[in-house]
Amino acid sequence: GAPVEVDITGMAAGEMKTVEWRGKPVWILKRSPDMVASLKKTDGVVADPKSERTPDALTPEYARNEHRSIKPEYLIAVGICSHLGCSPTSKFAEGAQPNLPDDWAGGFLCPCHGSTFDLAGRVFKNKPAPDNLEVPRHMYLSENKLIIG
Ligand code: FES
Repeated sequence: GAPVEVDITGMAAGEMKTVEWRGKPVWILKRSPDMVASLKKTDGVVADPKSERTPDALTPEYARNEHRSIKPEYLIAVGICSHLGCSPTSKFAEGAQPNLPDDWAGGFLCPCHGSTFDLAGRVFKNKPAPDNLEVPRHMYLSENKLIIG
């Protein structure tokens, strides 16, 4: 499939858009400062905080870090669960939602078997999904232009 160019001009903090790449949904989330800060909080409860054991195909070199991205404020991830391929939904509000812990800092929940992912697409411990969500190869062509693939 051809690479996809995405214009991220004017995205608000906390806004997420989805583009299609190779028939897959790719999420672009502009994390707010609070969302970036929440990753520190989830470091201890996710299975692979620095994506060290996530296969190369799922995490390019520049995403093997806490925020799993090139720029801390932007998450670029494939919206397909690493368990059996369902589509996780975004759950950005904190706490008091079914299937989410009280201290939930925001992230994604897979409806099929309950895997949860943080705001960097890192899977929580003891969930059926074996890996963090895929970060597709991507680069910035300019401040507000991204190419995926
Ligand atoms: Fe997502 Fe099973 S497909 S938890």
